[in-house]
Amino acid sequence: MKVVLVNGSPNADGCTFTGLGIIKEQLAKHGVDSEIFQAGNKPIIGCTACRTCKQTGKTGKCVFDNDMVNTVGQAFREADGIILGSPVHYASACGAATSFFDRLFFSLEPEAKKLKFGACIVSCRRAGSTATFDQLIKYFTISQMPVVSSCYWNGIHGYTPEDVYADKEGVRTLTILANNMAYLIKCKNQSNIELPEEPPVVMTNFIR
Ligand SMILES: Cc1cc2nc3c(=O)[nH]c(=O)nc-3n(C[C@H](O)[C@H](O)[C@H](O)COP(=O)(O)O)c2cc1C
Repeated sequence: MKVVLVNGSPNADGCTFTGLGIIKEQLAKHGVDSEIFQAGNKPIIGCTACRTCKQTGKTGKCVFDNDMVNTVGQAFREADGIILGSPVHYASACGAATSFFDRLFFSLEPEAKKLKFGACIVSCRRAGSTATFDQLIKYFTISQMPVVSSCYWNGIHGYTPEDVYADKEGVRTLTILANNMAYLIKCKNQSNIELPEEPPVVMTNFIR
């Protein structure tokens, strides 16, 4: 059992990282391995819509191979779930996280994502957490990924890692999130039900 944790923050050891660390520790208590990938602490180009990842042969890889996108993509292929983390910048996910997650989810082939578990955590000093949460879960709900939830919209408050630990309700929310992620992975792994088939792809692009 493995979960990929992605820190989209420019701060490699800031609040988002601290939140992901709390989750990692809790997942380990359930026997679930996890790895935190530092995605946001270097310049990340956004998706240029070149569609190379979708061309003949469907590489499932982003054409820009100079950052962690393809590395995280491969780790996700081999994992049972993924948790995306971002700080709130102007009431949205930060720019690096958005660029990284756009390219990760666009380049990966659908089978790599289908019915794997997804969750997100956001970190803010004061406001914008639920708008950012809403933004991030959309990566899952377009990818046939069940969203793992907790007892609140997974956010922690702080400016420093110490603040995160002081947000006891936030810590509890992340702890429950990790518990639920581990539980659902175990349920799925113990099931012998085959994944559902789906109708052929059709794109109408709203042309009339
Ligand atoms: C450019 C920028 C914009 C920010 N915008 C917000 C905001 O809209 N709302 C908020 O509560 N905090 C905002 N913050 C504060 C961060 O979200 C907060 O300190 C977060 O916990 C930092 O997480 P990190 O240490 O993982 O980067 C902003 C910080 C920066 C650098």
